[in-house]
Amino acid sequence: MQDYRQWCQHQGQQPLRVALLYASAYGNTARLADAIAQGLTAAQIAVEAINCEQADPNTLIDILNQCDGFIIGSPTLGGHAPVQIQTALGLVLANVPKTKLVGVFGSYGWSGEAIDELEGKLQDANYPFGFEPLRVRFSPDDTALEVCTEAAAQFAQRLRKRQKQQVARPAIADQAHSDRTALALGRIIGSLCVVTTQANGIHAGLLTAWVTQASFSPPGLMLALPRDAADASRFLPGNGFVLNILQEGRTVRRHFSAQRCSTTAFDHLPFELATNTCAILTDALAYVECTVVEQSSVGDHLLIYGAVQQGNLLAPSGMPAVKHRQSGHRY
Ligand SMILES: Cc1cc2nc3c(=O)[nH]c(=O)nc-3n(C[C@H](O)[C@H](O)[C@H](O)COP(=O)(O)O)c2cc1C
Repeated sequence: MQDYRQWCQHQGQQPLRVALLYASAYGNTARLADAIAQGLTAAQIAVEAINCEQADPNTLIDILNQCDGFIIGSPTLGGHAPVQIQTALGLVLANVPKTKLVGVFGSYGWSGEAIDELEGKLQDANYPFGFEPLRVRFSPDDTALEVCTEAAAQFAQRLRKRQKQQVARPAIADQAHSDRTALALGRIIGSLCVVTTQANGIHAGLLTAWVTQASFSPPGLMLALPRDAADASRFLPGNGFVLNILQEGRTVRRHFSAQRCSTTAFDHLPFELATNTCAILTDALAYVECTVVEQSSVGDHLLIYGAVQQGNLLAPSGMPAVKHRQSGHRY
């Protein structure tokens, strides 16, 4: 029955399609787009290549909605993506379902903000990525083009895997039931933060959105951290930590993981020391310095209740980065 159902669903199914959006002032990003298109075509994926400099917004939305995934590429000019890419990104965020697989690429000269901006905004919106963003300095050489082709092949593979999962999912009743519970749990959202601690002069940071205010007076907050990643000894009662609340559109999160404490991120990011000697990430939206009052073990997590000592808003016009989730099985 299962095989037959799958077979039926495959019949009449259109080939997978990917929209490839780009702009290119001097042709470098366009060459990357060509290499990606070749990789996709070789993997039997239909490609809709769209030069955003000439695209009509309504056509763009139609194509994006009909495609199974999209890949967007941009040069960085004057510290930003060209306006056509910014417009296309706005249309994507407002109109295209967050379930589509996405990819980001671009040619840049020295800082490549456009690629970071595309990655950050798509990540904030919770689109799943088919490959790590591709950054190429100036004109791509053969190796860079090969990396693009390989990334496209990986994208195609992930797209197929997702397609298979979508076909298989309704057939398994138990899984469907637990998926629905996970889907419901996944609707709980939180502000994306980095919790920083300091022990023996070594700073560590962990990404989390499992955080909430838990008391007005005295002000207190609650965190749930994965037991494997959070070193429990750093969160003993009396120890200090800083909750750095991240702002939308920034790339601070790239340096941290929710599964593992990072100690190397501090080599790349600007930070200052809080009164409790933990790191305040200066690119954060806001921070609060806390002292651990209670630590307890709940399920597979450590629950930390912290008393807030002091805090500050670092970017008054910024917006908090919010972590939207697909499932209660993952962060
Ligand atoms: C006017 C101008 C402004 C630029 N500004 C930046 C910049 O702010 N940051 C950066 O990383 N590269 C910058 N670049 C370098 C371009 O991103 C780089 O040349 C890239 O390869 C251009 O891609 P394209 O050929 O697809 O247009 C700039 C280049 C020009 C000509």
